Amino acid sequence: MLSQDAIREEFPVIDEVTYLNNAAQCPVPRRTVDRIGQITESLGRPHIEPNVSGELEGARRKLALLMNAKSEEIAFVANTSEGVSLAASSLPLRADDNVLIPDPEHPSLVYPWLNLQCKGVEVRRVRWHGPGLAVEDIFSSIDARTRVVALSDVQWTNGFRQDLKTLGSFCRDREIFLVVDAIQSLGVLPVDVRECHISILVAGGYKWLLAGRGNGCMFVHEDVVQKMSPPLVGRHGVRGVHSAGGLCFHRDARRFFTGAWNLPGIMALGSSVGLLLECGVEDIARRVGDLSQDLMRGVEGLGLDITSPRRPFHPSAIVSFTTGDSITDGQLVSELASHNVYLALRGRGLRAAVNFYNRQRDVDRTVEVLRHILQ
Ligand SMILES: Cc1ncc(COP(=O)(O)O)c(C=O)c1O
Repeated sequence: MLSQDAIREEFPVIDEVTYLNNAAQCPVPRRTVDRIGQITESLGRPHIEPNVSGELEGARRKLALLMNAKSEEIAFVANTSEGVSLAASSLPLRADDNVLIPDPEHPSLVYPWLNLQCKGVEVRRVRWHGPGLAVEDIFSSIDARTRVVALSDVQWTNGFRQDLKTLGSFCRDREIFLVVDAIQSLGVLPVDVRECHISILVAGGYKWLLAGRGNGCMFVHEDVVQKMSPPLVGRHGVRGVHSAGGLCFHRDARRFFTGAWNLPGIMALGSSVGLLLECGVEDIARRVGDLSQDLMRGVEGLGLDITSPRRPFHPSAIVSFTTGDSITDGQLVSELASHNVYLALRGRGLRAAVNFYNRQRDVDRTVEVLRHILQ
């Protein structure tokens, strides 16, 4: 983990406000802001072509390390929606196949599959009622025509973490593709695509990857990639043209590359994921878990209801809670902001999320200000 001084240098925002809105957007560290600045600066001098291929490959390598993948299995995307859309439009799905999705689920994960209904693909929504969708409910909704299970690793509203290991083994044994939206876990919780038998994983960069908006990554398992036909095609995704005139795609995730690179976005990913690897995701998750527990205890002490699932069953970085009244919850979020304490209104109440740069005093101050407002 970084020293306290290094953390303050990378994240000056922590001395300006109490920022617990990390599940909406994490601050971009100083080193990444600087790298984006340098690469943007170079755009004004096109005669000096920046040599970026090493950094580009470095970004893939670091992202792969973060999730126990291989570099060749990593492609870049503009955001989560784009990655899920690429998955939905390139997997071999036919009329009357079905895709299972939790209900409710984040729209970025849902809409790309709904878009396949015009081809006759059935989208099955599996309703969840408790803290999150139980794997048993997914198993009982699967039939012989189920080709895909698509879901978020961590639910954005209450922080429920899916049991991907059990789900992944089940899907692998039945040759069902498991497609995971990991924007609320990658970078803050350990994610292992091999252990969980994930086919495709997508994560936008602006939350726990600390890389700002307009970038992200897509993992495509080496056994799955050649079954996929990219809907977007460009010079970086193609090895050449067959003598018969057909396209010869790269045999790995590079087939999802298209044309000129989003250099600031990719450099940001490489720089920020480098920082995460330096800190160690296991250590980040431990620190975030401890602070989240303290926050839950403090909030409960004020008589508010915790709507997040409890550790140790489904730990994530999200702590959600409510007064029981949605209007009062909304007023609380605004009043907290007027005291420089930032969190969000989501799902059934308030959503707070700490990250490794937060300190005990951020948790204490949040509880203190809440107590003051509620008095
Ligand atoms: C679970 C989940 N998926 C996706 C997104 C965002 O998707 P996109 O990167 O396409 O904007 C969010 C943002 O809140 C999210 O919480």
